[in-house]
Amino acid sequence: MARKSSFICQSCGAVSSRWLGKCEACGDWNSIIEEAAGGGIAAPVGGKVARGAKFVLSGLGGEEPMAPRVATGLDELDRVTGGGFVHGSVLLIGGEPGIGKSTLLIQSAAALARRGGRVVYISGEEAIAQVRMRAQRLGLADAPVELGAHTNVEDIVETLRQGRTPALVVIDSIQTMWTSAIETTPGTVTQVRGAAQALIRFAKTTGACVILVGHVTKDGQIAGPRVVEHMVDAVLSFEGEGGHHFRILRAGKNRFGATDEIGVFEMTGQGLAEVANPSAMFLAGREAGAAGTAVLAGMEGTRPLLVEVQALVAPTALGNPRRAVIGWDTSRLAMVLAVLEAHAGVRLGQHDIYLNVAGGLKISEPAADLAAAAALVSSLTGAALPPDAVYFGEIGLSGAIRPVVHAGLRAREAAKLGFAASFCPAPKGRKETGPLRHNPCDHISTLVAAIAARAPRQKRA
Ligand code: TYD
Ligand code: MG
Repeated sequence: MARKSSFICQSCGAVSSRWLGKCEACGDWNSIIEEAAGGGIAAPVGGKVARGAKFVLSGLGGEEPMAPRVATGLDELDRVTGGGFVHGSVLLIGGEPGIGKSTLLIQSAAALARRGGRVVYISGEEAIAQVRMRAQRLGLADAPVELGAHTNVEDIVETLRQGRTPALVVIDSIQTMWTSAIETTPGTVTQVRGAAQALIRFAKTTGACVILVGHVTKDGQIAGPRVVEHMVDAVLSFEGEGGHHFRILRAGKNRFGATDEIGVFEMTGQGLAEVANPSAMFLAGREAGAAGTAVLAGMEGTRPLLVEVQALVAPTALGNPRRAVIGWDTSRLAMVLAVLEAHAGVRLGQHDIYLNVAGGLKISEPAADLAAAAALVSSLTGAALPPDAVYFGEIGLSGAIRPVVHAGLRAREAAKLGFAASFCPAPKGRKETGPLRHNPCDHISTLVAAIAARAPRQKRA
């Protein structure tokens, strides 16, 4: 029989019957590579379908001998995984190169090893000496982590099977692994998928927890094997902004916990430090009492997070006024500007507008509308907002401000950081008001009137 080959897109994994310059599924150019057919995981051995052997089925009940989760002791990491790694589970951690994945993992590996678990760290990218050097810099050289620099999964699995079952195995990174069962070059979708499959099988059969590191392409996808995302139990992403030191660990998929938890870290000279109070970090250095800044009592997952929204509004010298936004959505800004003009008479059509979320955080929740509007009006009128107030609420196209979820949590977090007042729509119940002095804000015109009343005389419109 003639040997067939298939053409697989290295970006999305789509299979086509012939070579194409552009993948029809994801639109990527030059991403299609010819791979020998029958090399996939589902391929029958030797081309024949062998008859399988029987196995025992079991029920949903029944005792599991092991503790269900292994906590690393790094609270921010354990919070995101839902209280620690589940035995036999496989996690994929994605992030841009240099964001700190290897640092995070060597730190958690060391923390777990110090608590007595067997931890194996396999590096496919760095030599043993390099991993050791980093560990020494981080003061982790004494942690009993077992280290290996290897890329063949069969060898790795065979080595891992020797001795006590590891509590945690770190594979840094999955893109460097290859399996001898498949005849394509390492790094291709088929190889990565095959290698991941072998490691997942190892985790499920032994109860060890395996963490796979995955590189992320410039558009934020875990490079190559989106398919791996379906195979693993949890997908975490490690994010940060260039030039800022904070890093956020976020769960995108988690079979054993919530997906809306975040962990916040700060990259320091001694590795990643946990940030237990992110609001204080994001508000550090704030110039309270300056016009054009408003504090948003926001939420990241289930965690309240206070950030400063800054606006600068200045008359334009150009025909087409500039709109520059960092950390927020440009179309959201356009909507807030339109509502301000239509329902509160605030004309910004002849002004350049710059909007920035301080600290480099990206905000996506609609609750930021009110804080952005307050910052814009404050900058336009020159009226500083009360320094002890927080803002949150979603602005509708009619100018009405709609309540957002977790008003109570937001208010309590603000009170903890010394804020005394809130501007937001009327909360539903008393519990929701929290400890702050509540300034009801049910329509955009109420907000604008409140800010205009504070404006210096000459600027008041
Ligand atoms: P690394 O963990 O190697 O990133 P990844 O594995 O995601 O590619 O992190 C590399 C970056 O982190 C590097 O630019 C330097 C910085 N870093 C520190 O600032 N402090 C430290 O203590 C360490 C170990 C790294
Ligand atoms: Mg690395």
